Amino acid sequence: HHYVAIMAGGIGSRFWPKSRTHHPKQFLDILNTGKTLIQWTFERFAGFIPKENIFVVTSQEYTKTVKEQLPDIKDENILAEPSRKNTAPCIAYMAFKLMQQDPNASLIVAPSDHLILDVTAFTKVSLEALRFVEKHNALVTLGIKPTHPNTGYGYIQYEQHAVSDNVYKVKTFTEKPKLEMAKAFMASGDFLWNAGIFVWQVKNIISAFEKYLPEMYEMFAAEKDTFNTSDEQAAIERIYPQCTNISIDFGIMEKADNVYIIPSSFGWSDLGTWNSAYDNLEKDYLGNAVAGNNVIVIDATNCMVHAPNNKLVLLQGADDFIIVDTEDVLLISKKNKEQEIKDYVAEVKRKK
Ligand code: GDD
Ligand code: MG
Repeated sequence: HHYVAIMAGGIGSRFWPKSRTHHPKQFLDILNTGKTLIQWTFERFAGFIPKENIFVVTSQEYTKTVKEQLPDIKDENILAEPSRKNTAPCIAYMAFKLMQQDPNASLIVAPSDHLILDVTAFTKVSLEALRFVEKHNALVTLGIKPTHPNTGYGYIQYEQHAVSDNVYKVKTFTEKPKLEMAKAFMASGDFLWNAGIFVWQVKNIISAFEKYLPEMYEMFAAEKDTFNTSDEQAAIERIYPQCTNISIDFGIMEKADNVYIIPSSFGWSDLGTWNSAYDNLEKDYLGNAVAGNNVIVIDATNCMVHAPNNKLVLLQGADDFIIVDTEDVLLISKKNKEQEIKDYVAEVKRKK
């Protein structure tokens, strides 16, 4: 009864120009490893979950890419959403569909665009979490020790005594706090980042929808008999336009009283920005991280270079730059301006 839903409908705008709306981060090989992030994600789960129990939920426009990148996934395991409504509707869709085919299902819900270096440790905590949710009405999340006051994450405070092995009851869950608050959380030392990987029994997450997002619950419940029939897609087309655009974190995790956390350490990175890619790549003795096979670096320092095309790139003297070469766009930007890449993209779109 173990299942996985890989969420792959996001757009990842800070990785521009490599990441584009029509080809976002999860489908890219940001670190030049030979596989894309979603391929690594699938492979990680296929190590301990039967392939036929692994699903991908994505936007309609990405289903073709998912099929190309994950040829081992059957078509019926790819759930296509008609519009982007964030993670709550995506999880509701998956949960209601699974409930129809296996009411005792336990489900791991995972992002498609993270880096996880220690697969053995990841497998171990995932199985611990599955074991726990089989016995408890619990919404489990995996927690990561924070390293800096990042405002793009959920922050979780938990009780001191474990309820079982390595599982703790969550006291507070704060999604994407303001910087001041994130700093206070860091300083207090008893918060973990939400890794965005959730584990629960399908029936229990459905109860949480009923309690915390009742309108969304009603819409899916009304169409539940269509799931896994030829009417499913039509039902989804009816539901989605009416769904609120909300993440599972704001919609349920911040509010529910049965949230548990497993403090984890498996070499996790959200890989959200070029700097996080830089942090995860090997550096030469001058601090340059180069993803690309045809790059010559002379006296440059602390640069992040992503140039996987065949074009020869020669870099001399640059210090502290992000340099990203794609077929149609070349980005050269100071490393400390990376949060602004989003704004540059907006600017580019306005000028076009
Ligand atoms: N199918 C589908 N549909 N997938 C989606 C959608 C959608 O509308 N929106 C986002 N996703 C996918 C993304 O592709 C990603 O794999 C995952 O769901 C999480 O969405 P993000 O948009 O990346 O969330 P976030 O990074 O802002 O925040 C979440 O992750 C953080 C850790 O990286 C939250 O769970 C935070 O609490 C957490 O700290
Ligand atoms: Mg994310």
